[in-house]
Amino acid sequence: AYVVAEPCIKCKYTDCVEVCPVNCFYEGANFLVIHPDECIDCGACEPVCPTKAIFPESELPDKWKEYKDLNDKLSKGGWPNLAEKLSELPEADEYKDKKDKRALLDT
Ligand code: SF4
Ligand code: F3S
Repeated sequence: AYVVAEPCIKCKYTDCVEVCPVNCFYEGANFLVIHPDECIDCGACEPVCPTKAIFPESELPDKWKEYKDLNDKLSKGGWPNLAEKLSELPEADEYKDKKDKRALLDT
């Protein structure tokens, strides 16, 4: 499955949602996750994310390995499904290139 990693935090542009053929994105307050059992590995979401937050599991950078479990847990833990593109968060452009956003993740 594909995985949403740290760059999405505080941005949530949701371009990914618009292109996903199986609607397997789930939405938190400032982050989105992919349901690993629903993703069909089509790859459509990866190139459209403005923050480059999305990776195939096999290419997830070491520093973001934790996000595989986070996508699994959070997508199955009650976050609502998101099937349509929304406006990005108001602070998205400010946080787009910021590093070390893990502590800001709102679960
Ligand atoms: Fe959806 Fe395809 Fe991305 Fe999986 S790889 S989340 S199926 S767009
Ligand atoms: Fe997040 Fe990128 Fe989608 S910022 S909401 S993974 S387009």
